Amino acid sequence: MNAKEILSKLTVKEKLMLTSGKDFWHLNGVEKENVPSIMVTDGPHGLRKAAGSEMNVGNVVPTEAFPTASCSACSWDREALKKMGEAMAEECIQEEVAVILGPGTNMKRDPLCGRNFEYFSEDPVLAGEMAASMINAIQSKGIGTSLKHYAANNQETYRMTGSSNLDIRTLREYYLKPFEIAVKKSQPYTIMSSYNKINNVPASGNKLVLKDILRDEWGYNGCVITDWGGAHVHYEDINGGLDLEMPGNKQLYLKHTLKAYKEGKITDEEIDRAAYNVLHLIEKTIDASSKKTPYDKDAHHKISKEVALSSMVLLKNEKNMLPLKKDDKILVIGEFAEKPRYQGAGSSFLNPPKVDSLKESLDAAGIAYDYAKGYDLSNMKDAEANAKLADEAVAQIKDQKVVLYIGLSDEYESEGSDRIVTKFALPEAHQKLIEKVLAKTNNVIVVLSAGSVVDLSFADKVPAILDTYLAGASVGSALCDILYGVVNPSGKLAETWPLSYDDVPCSETYGKEKNQVNYREGLFVGYRYYNTANVPVRFPFGFGLSYTTFEYANLKISGNKVSVDVTNTGKVDGAEVVQLYIANKTKATIFPAAELKNFDKVFLKAGETKTVKFELKDEDFQYFNVEKNAYVIAKGDYEIQIGASSRDIKLKEIIKKEGDTSSDLDKFKGSWFTTFKGKPTDADAKLLGLDVIYEQPTRKGDYTLENTVQDVKGSGFGKVFHKIMLIAVCAATGIKKSEMDTPQNKMTIEAALGISFRGMAAMSGGAMPLWLAGILVGFCNGFSRKSKKK
Ligand code: BGC
Repeated sequence: MNAKEILSKLTVKEKLMLTSGKDFWHLNGVEKENVPSIMVTDGPHGLRKAAGSEMNVGNVVPTEAFPTASCSACSWDREALKKMGEAMAEECIQEEVAVILGPGTNMKRDPLCGRNFEYFSEDPVLAGEMAASMINAIQSKGIGTSLKHYAANNQETYRMTGSSNLDIRTLREYYLKPFEIAVKKSQPYTIMSSYNKINNVPASGNKLVLKDILRDEWGYNGCVITDWGGAHVHYEDINGGLDLEMPGNKQLYLKHTLKAYKEGKITDEEIDRAAYNVLHLIEKTIDASSKKTPYDKDAHHKISKEVALSSMVLLKNEKNMLPLKKDDKILVIGEFAEKPRYQGAGSSFLNPPKVDSLKESLDAAGIAYDYAKGYDLSNMKDAEANAKLADEAVAQIKDQKVVLYIGLSDEYESEGSDRIVTKFALPEAHQKLIEKVLAKTNNVIVVLSAGSVVDLSFADKVPAILDTYLAGASVGSALCDILYGVVNPSGKLAETWPLSYDDVPCSETYGKEKNQVNYREGLFVGYRYYNTANVPVRFPFGFGLSYTTFEYANLKISGNKVSVDVTNTGKVDGAEVVQLYIANKTKATIFPAAELKNFDKVFLKAGETKTVKFELKDEDFQYFNVEKNAYVIAKGDYEIQIGASSRDIKLKEIIKKEGDTSSDLDKFKGSWFTTFKGKPTDADAKLLGLDVIYEQPTRKGDYTLENTVQDVKGSGFGKVFHKIMLIAVCAATGIKKSEMDTPQNKMTIEAALGISFRGMAAMSGGAMPLWLAGILVGFCNGFSRKSKKK
């Protein structure tokens, strides 16, 4: 097919029809031109294809569950991500899916974000590189990707209605950076705009990020699609740079957009661009996605394991607790050993054909062990039942090493909600269990299973901690291999583990500012904050132990070439992640203490030395100068640092750069950005150029299509409507009253009710036209004011 030729034969109406989906997962084709309809579906850690109604998020065809992004990023292993991407593409080919909706590369602004498990890192370079490897691999097989959620989508609270308010330097250098890296290195076939607004302009039609930056500056030539139900006014979205609105909804906007066309509000040029990008996407993916070819399930499970092995992070290992020896007496405590947690809840939910548990894997390896459940995953709220299980477990402790397998249970981490209420806390049953175990012994190896940071205030009392994050369907066998030293751990943290949630710079406001979410801390997120403000942390960004030791020597910098020798000085083979940071020592403006610019993972046999080489690029030295509205290099000193973590710099050297001599440092004197006392204020934010906005409550009479079903509960009609919606959602998805509290069900319900009236129409598959949504809003307003319908 030839997209350009076909475009020239279409009417405006036919072109516009291409810019809206056909159904929940399919794009419109063009029958008269034999353009087929292709399927796009989730992502991002394996193929999630609905087996029945798309409303039932749990009912999906069996596919491999690879480690989630928060886990795989700890591999710092581009090759691992490549293999995983290729395998995912093969599953798409078998299932005739043209585009897999992933990877997600949003920054982790706060460890409580419910979707952090789906995102790679708090660092844009690591996140961008991981995303690019995966995208290149998937697309090398002719299958498309969707880099998401573009952009500044960093919380689930008010996810469909909130505005992320931030200054331009922070937006560019931090929140857009991973997307920039991935776009430039891999040209994802599609990019998914996020639900949120950016400085109160919907991301789905945000000209600054979609046109000016993404297309004009970065040279993006693919198709921009909305998140599901995340469209706003369609012609405005297209004018802002959007190409495709998803999911299909029987052309909700067609009439409206045609009218706008007649009125000159949208031009042929814009419509052609959008329609061409959709046609071109079909053109690029149709061959691969229409040649149903079976794949090797076992081979994919092995790849999943390889990635997990490369990603698990050894956080502590005193008294040579690990690796275990086959004849060590061990007691495994924790039901995760039987029912591992290997993925998060929501649209990334997978149904792998096979899941390896630790118990099965120990059995398969012929390792003897004692086991106690310790807690009941299906009954986490029952304090009495869990206390009994904890007591039974503790009663089994004799002289064994205890492998204590704990973490977050399913209900803690899900798309659609953040951990605002529980913060870092582990489930109470796990907290009590740890206390009881430690009262009896501290011969304990803690194994963690969670997609994000949890409270480790017990860390000083245990000699060993191994973090598996959410390691995919092979978690148990990978864990077994690491515990017994079959494989040497080599993962390093892709995010900082603070000592306490209160240490997080935005902890006082995160999830609490309704709809107007103000990023007062600017660039000072994650290690950019902790390392600059000298805040002690539990485990720093980039940190991870090994069963061997490494030595760094001979840092050489010549022009833009950097090299360093790394030697495995221990007795076993192992891999090391060598990290290159740059500290901007100029006084041009405020800078984080140092920033990651490159990294490499090298495998070294015991005793072996390898020279690791990096190339310094201009971008590595640039910062976004707000006055000049451009990236510049400031004249002055830059320290090139080679480290084993962001807080373990082994070698460093200062180099000089010529460049811009302007400075705005003076204005920051005495502000939070130089004292780091307390939390950043509105006045601090103002120095960055951010005018903090507070949400004005919407009252009956002022509701619009942009309000959610939750918002309108303030009116009598709204309250009744909310109830009806709850019943309708449960009926449509088969959720029973007694099961409303399970993670998947809660997510389905919250997502459905946290949706705006406009979004509801968009997600209704055509059942709710916009005029009907408008009438409902009118009822909520008591018809005292007409709902705004553009
Ligand atoms: C999620 C996306 C996902 C889409 C389709 C949305 O709710 O935010 O990440 O790809 O649904 O399932």
